[in-house]
Amino acid sequence: MSQEILPRREAPSIETNDARSSKKSTRAQRRWRILARALTGSPEPIGNESDEEVSVRRFTSFGLLKCAPLVNAPTDGESSWCEYSTRLDGRSYDVQIRRISKCFTASELIGFNNTGNVCVWPSEECLAYYLLRNRGLCRNRSVLELGGGMSCLAGVLAAKYCNPSAVTLTDGNVTSVDNVRCIVARNDMTHLVECGVVQWARAARALRQAVNGNRLKTRTVDSDEDDRLPLGLYDVILSADCLFFDDTRLDLVETIYGWLADDGIALVMAPRRGTTFQKFAEASIKRGFIARQTELYDDTVWSRHLELLENNPEYCPDLHYPVLLELTKQKKTPPG
Ligand SMILES: C[S@@+](CC[C@H](N)C(=O)[O-])C[C@H]1O[C@@H](n2cnc3c(N)ncnc32)[C@H](O)[C@@H]1O
Repeated sequence: MSQEILPRREAPSIETNDARSSKKSTRAQRRWRILARALTGSPEPIGNESDEEVSVRRFTSFGLLKCAPLVNAPTDGESSWCEYSTRLDGRSYDVQIRRISKCFTASELIGFNNTGNVCVWPSEECLAYYLLRNRGLCRNRSVLELGGGMSCLAGVLAAKYCNPSAVTLTDGNVTSVDNVRCIVARNDMTHLVECGVVQWARAARALRQAVNGNRLKTRTVDSDEDDRLPLGLYDVILSADCLFFDDTRLDLVETIYGWLADDGIALVMAPRRGTTFQKFAEASIKRGFIARQTELYDDTVWSRHLELLENNPEYCPDLHYPVLLELTKQKKTPPG
């Protein structure tokens, strides 16, 4: 991850009068970073956690979509609305997104992964932009987003501008999904878009059980009411920045495999982040996917990447540059 994940109340700005108290604050901040990392399972060091120094790396966006606060939108102290917009080939695209800005309690941090409630991560931004550039990918197709976080920005923009037949937006985190429901309602998409909590481990378990003889009546995973999703497979599955969870890697592969139509495609974007991307790609191939990795999938994203490499010392491609992984199923050859 490229941004601090902290209980915000606990991340004090340092206003100290002498070097000793300043050093104490710095140590306290560092401890909070380490704790937050441990609690959230954040995949990269948030700062340099040496005893002497804390350097915070910050890179949040490729600037592909502008994000402007929405005046006249409801605020409740724990969320705010903004408009994401861009112009491509003379046409404007925009959508209203609710962002969570609450302080997470310790139990929330210890509970289900909250990384999707911290911000819209660059992979989600790049995937959204890629879909706007390639609108035919979702046309007349059923689209599912997995691990879309609090915005599901890619899925929401696909719903608004790519003429899909249906869209399902999901995350494993209930707070994220509640937020996405607000977004869908405000953008008048309830006729086209449904939202639900989908945790990959439970989805994969249900799929494995189905393969073992108990056919699923629905795609539902266990019994939470949010988990009920309609019958049928998806033509396009989207996922952004979800490949670094070692514990659930195989479950995510299984969920995508089980819910993707035979002639469907999964568009997965994530930074390489050490070996995590590669491990996911290898697990996908082992499961039966054809996997294609592309770094230069869009000229604008690539030129931003080159500019950042040149000018931004905080930009680290391994952690920040999303690579596109396209997964398709191997063709079943009819018995000859
Ligand atoms: C780094 S965030 C990315 C969120 C969003 N795609 C973005 O890029 O802004 C990872 C997301 O994966 C979700 N997630 C993590 N483990 C999960 C699991 N086992 N099942 C479902 N979702 C999970 C988290 O809730 C979080 O929203």
